[in-house]
Amino acid sequence: MKLKQFSLLLAIAITINVSHAQLKKQKNTSFKVGQLWYDTEGNLINAHGGTILYFKHIYYWFGEKRGDHQSQGITVYTSKDLYNWQYKGVVFEQSKDATSPIAEGGIMERPKVIYNKKTKKFVLWFHLEIRGRGYNAAEVGVAESNHILGPYKYVRSFRPNGNMSRDMTIYKDDDGKAYEIYSSRDNYDMRIVQLTDDYLNVTKKDSLLFSKHREAPAIFKYNHQYYLITSACTGWAPNEAALCVANNLYGPWKMLGNPMKGEKSKTTFDGQPAFILPLPNKKNCFIYVGDKWNPKDLMDSRYQFLPIKITAGGVAIPWEENWSLNIFDK
Ligand code: DGJ
Repeated sequence: MKLKQFSLLLAIAITINVSHAQLKKQKNTSFKVGQLWYDTEGNLINAHGGTILYFKHIYYWFGEKRGDHQSQGITVYTSKDLYNWQYKGVVFEQSKDATSPIAEGGIMERPKVIYNKKTKKFVLWFHLEIRGRGYNAAEVGVAESNHILGPYKYVRSFRPNGNMSRDMTIYKDDDGKAYEIYSSRDNYDMRIVQLTDDYLNVTKKDSLLFSKHREAPAIFKYNHQYYLITSACTGWAPNEAALCVANNLYGPWKMLGNPMKGEKSKTTFDGQPAFILPLPNKKNCFIYVGDKWNPKDLMDSRYQFLPIKITAGGVAIPWEENWSLNIFDK
């Protein structure tokens, strides 16, 4: 190749690279659902199965850090607008000690962080599987920190009142009482247990909600009623979601069917519920967040932020490809 041709190719390659990097660092002004999503440094956001906590006017997005398959602890990102996220690091690490319950090689899923007003501590709950035991430990783990950005320190892990606990979520009610909602008995049962006042353990107020073989619980409260979305149990493969409603967290829960609307609604748009974010400054506005898993490369799993539509006809989650928060003003 002549020097002139080589220089031209080099210039083209540099231009493409620069514009790609620029694209990655471009400010987002909407949710591009299921697309590659970069943080403010231009790296892919790695925070799966997680939660968003709004604290002192900032959103904190906690999630599973994944390699192509393995768990790599819990990450956090911060944002002021929900579209642009700054990476703040791993807040909860796995242990190098192979005998530790949180040893590397184990699995940490579905992290949820809540703030305890009385103790002034941030408490992290997560689904824990112990190194070398696949998904058979079926425990829930607890960690705490004085600072929202961590580091979080391991407190304990266990089966709540002896019950298996796999997919789970944590719900803090308006009165400050908090609960774990969890898939139990090999995912055949959905159960609830109230947490102790310090949020570091469970109480004996532990009860069966329903036995419908469901997982991936995500919950919100609207108009004095609780709405719970779950998935069926098909590993990483997507399936049909179901919504149920109750006046009381302990039930009875009434099944309402699939809330997803649009093409691919039968497979939850090829995703699975992770959590629901009530918008702090907009009454009765909620964002459903799902994971579109890529089992071959979990790190590359995508996020599905979708607005929840509440009308006289009920609660629905219609597919939106590209939307912004002003959808709630319409
Ligand atoms: C589905 C769960 O919802 C995920 O969190 C994960 O545990 C996968 N199953 C593992 O197959």
